[in-house]
Amino acid sequence: MTTTGLDLDATTTLVHPPATGREWWRSAVIYQVYPRSFADADGDGMGDLRGITARLPHLVRLGVDALWLSPFYTSPQHDAGYDVADYRQVDPRFGSLADADALLARAHELGLKVLIDLVPNHTSSDHAWFQEAMAAGPGSPERARYVFRGGKGEAGEQPPTNWRSVFGGPAWSRVTEADGSPGQWYLHLFDVTQPDLNWENEEVRLELESILRFWLDRGVDGFRVDVAHGLVKDQSFPDWDHRTGMVSGNDEDPDAHDPGPSPYWDQPGVHEIYRRWHAVLEEYDGDRCLVAEAWADGPEKIAAYTRPDEMQQAFNFDFLSTPWDAKRLRASITGGLQASDAVGAPCTWVLSNHDVVRASSRLGLGETGKGPNGIGAEDPQPDAELGLRRARAAALLMLALPGSAYLYQGEEIGLPEHTELPDELREDPAYFRTDQAEKGRDGCRVPFPWEAAEPGFGFSPTGATWLPQPQEWARYAVDVQEGVPGSTLETYRTALRLRRELDLGNGPLAWLGDPSETVLAFSNGDLRVVVNLGEAPVAVGTLTVVLASGPLEETSDGDVLVPSDTAVWLG
Ligand code: NOJ
Repeated sequence: MTTTGLDLDATTTLVHPPATGREWWRSAVIYQVYPRSFADADGDGMGDLRGITARLPHLVRLGVDALWLSPFYTSPQHDAGYDVADYRQVDPRFGSLADADALLARAHELGLKVLIDLVPNHTSSDHAWFQEAMAAGPGSPERARYVFRGGKGEAGEQPPTNWRSVFGGPAWSRVTEADGSPGQWYLHLFDVTQPDLNWENEEVRLELESILRFWLDRGVDGFRVDVAHGLVKDQSFPDWDHRTGMVSGNDEDPDAHDPGPSPYWDQPGVHEIYRRWHAVLEEYDGDRCLVAEAWADGPEKIAAYTRPDEMQQAFNFDFLSTPWDAKRLRASITGGLQASDAVGAPCTWVLSNHDVVRASSRLGLGETGKGPNGIGAEDPQPDAELGLRRARAAALLMLALPGSAYLYQGEEIGLPEHTELPDELREDPAYFRTDQAEKGRDGCRVPFPWEAAEPGFGFSPTGATWLPQPQEWARYAVDVQEGVPGSTLETYRTALRLRRELDLGNGPLAWLGDPSETVLAFSNGDLRVVVNLGEAPVAVGTLTVVLASGPLEETSDGDVLVPSDTAVWLG
């Protein structure tokens, strides 16, 4: 095979200056803990807060700056906790408020910041407010906390609009009134058990601000804001015939027709809410942080959530969704950095989370990019080896970029998706609401393998796990990779140490050379980074290799050769 030579001293294009602000969140690496699946202390097979606290040293050894906890609040768990029944209580499955306080205290002792998940778009239908709304009837102040409307048609038998739930099916459900008659409809952009709150109502705004203060008073360092782009709805309630898919981007027929502007995503009115939240955070000492889970058209619209008086970060999902293609990744990185620079915010990189097929599986599919909404046993299976090789290269790409980066639990051990979960064990509402057409997100939420030889791979003292772990996960277990040079875990640890030492999160980024079909090359300060996404090995001269995502080769002249789907950091 022919080798491509790369001139790292060729033209450089500076796209991002060094950061000037020094707040921790500008450059932080933040580890997402999914409480159901990280570590189980009480042995019931479901992870819990005491389990997380006991495993915090793993995060310290990994070298992250902070953790983000997905929801652990009281919830009937119809959407794995993103259906909150009480925002000020811990669900007994996960522990108690005292356990949450202990986790916070221990994390802070260990030098880790803690972000928690806030779910402001909807509550659970078990929330006291929704129960009161159901009892109080049409026109009541209790109903005005949610989006209740009369139906269309002579007897109100049709929903108020044709809006569709992200999880599939209609976004409105009709209630039966107290007298037994068919009544109003309520909006749920997600599951039927997740009624949308009415953000036109000042009482709702005050309540969510009070919840922010409740947790800030307990010492959290910030919040990840769920569906941040969805809170405000166009009050004229126009029809909009389009189903927006989950994070994995499974929009229905995205090319079939242009649905026009959405009446509920990214409405201008959402920004006022975050200005108020910004002010709430400013009441507290230290640099607190809000990170938006926002989906909007293009990097500028996303960056608008991080203007100086709004949130501190917004996930750059464009990067996650971009296929494994050098030109497109370069364009995405440039676009993300420039848009966030324009508002003085850090770009916030992410490759995996609890809503998408894990990167090490996604990148092993024939078609890379956003990926499907879950993979089942009868679907085309990812090439595990290719996926892992690319995921490791993608990790060294991401961790060399300036800004903040999020890791999803398991990413640091190269954990793949569980692609053969028995269908009868699936819990994701999307699986049921799409009539099983989409497998859903359970495959990226399987309990974490800690020790290869222990039952349940050490997840739980009894060996119980709420979803089964594939037997071959033994080879990913933390204890198997610990201390093994070149293992995924040790590669992440080294990358995070160097990222900190070289202050890469605050550095400048310049592209080296022109856009190429197969190679990404850039500098961040004195570090040079080359990622080979093509097939032919790339010669990068005699620079010192600081870190590589996989085995390297050498030319007969002693030049470093970067093989296919491999990234190197060069000094
Ligand atoms: C985004 C969350 O990440 C996802 O898990 C959840 O199902 C939806 N928002 C609804 O809250």
